[in-house]
Amino acid sequence: MSDYLKPLLISLLLWTVLKAAAVAAPADAERGRYLLQMGGCSSCHTRDGGEALAGGRSMETPFGTFITPNITPHPETGIGEWSDKDFIRAMTEGRAPDGSHYYPAFPYVSYRAMSRQDLLDLKAYLDSVEPVDAPSTEHELAFPFNIRALLGPWKWLNLNPPPDLDVRTEKSEAWMRGRYIVRGPGHCGECHTPRNLLGGLEQEAHLAGNPEGPEGESVPPITPEDPGFSRWSEADIVFALQTGMKPDGDFLGGSMGHVIENSTGKLTESDLKAIAAYLRDPEEPL
Ligand code: HEC
Ligand code: HEC
Repeated sequence: MSDYLKPLLISLLLWTVLKAAAVAAPADAERGRYLLQMGGCSSCHTRDGGEALAGGRSMETPFGTFITPNITPHPETGIGEWSDKDFIRAMTEGRAPDGSHYYPAFPYVSYRAMSRQDLLDLKAYLDSVEPVDAPSTEHELAFPFNIRALLGPWKWLNLNPPPDLDVRTEKSEAWMRGRYIVRGPGHCGECHTPRNLLGGLEQEAHLAGNPEGPEGESVPPITPEDPGFSRWSEADIVFALQTGMKPDGDFLGGSMGHVIENSTGKLTESDLKAIAAYLRDPEEPL
């Protein structure tokens, strides 16, 4: 090869390698473990006293009872045979590998805003946990909610394009991070945002509270428009998400107790500050 071509070829090679690296950093299971906590997956996929992520937890809803599936890497009863693509499709489109639709009781309406890298890291962590042989159980849903095919029209009516959380604004880095956590993996709106008659999230009332939350609880608003919540300082929010204790000394319970135990209580202080920065500074509905 001529000396003239060599540098050209080398830079071409380097460019290809660097480009590939920028597109897909190797999946990082340790980061994935943190994302699993941020996503609160254990609140639903680990039964009380059951093995981690092996499912079997019952979720009572107005539509019937959902029984969460096993998401350990067991090849037959878990998701051990799933490709990265299968996993990303489940989390962002609410579809199973066979193409059937998932119920939005699995909060993919929020998770679909997660970045591809975060999803790959989360999958790498799930691949690394102990496989548990525990067959998933059928949900106990009333007619017509037991017809999965009806979820096609439901999605058409209720799934707007996912919010683009990368959109730059004049806000701080912390606020951007907070928005990503709250709207994406943290899925706070799944309980704190009211739902329409079809069970879709009313995005115009983002985080404005939901009188009919999970298990019939009333879920309070967490926006500065609420006279009570507007008095919470950043430090109050961080402390409550870490420990469950409110500024008035009462403790948060019900399903928020699970969120604190499995999710926000395990997040870094800087991520909790980011959540607080976002909650204290509302945005227009996306
Ligand atoms: C609020 C409860 C809830 C949370 C939180 C939750 N899930 Fe689920 N998940 C469900 C339910 C219910 C289903 C079953 C949906 C269906 O059958 O249509 C499900 C299904 C799944 C499936 C499909 C499994 C299969 O065998 O088809 C995967 C994968 C999954 N969840 C992963 C996750 C991950 C990862 C997280 C955390 C980032 C998570 N889930 C958080 C309730 C939840
Ligand atoms: C599974 C449902 C659920 C999810 C998900 C959830 N919350 Fe909550 N949250 C509740 C309930 C229920 C309460 C009321 C608990 C009580 O008063 O004992 C609550 C209370 C709160 C409060 C106290 C508000 C007040 O005025 O007392 C804050 C702050 C809060 N949640 C923040 C969050 C954040 C941030 C997220 C997302 C990271 C989140 N929540 C996700 C159900 C949920």
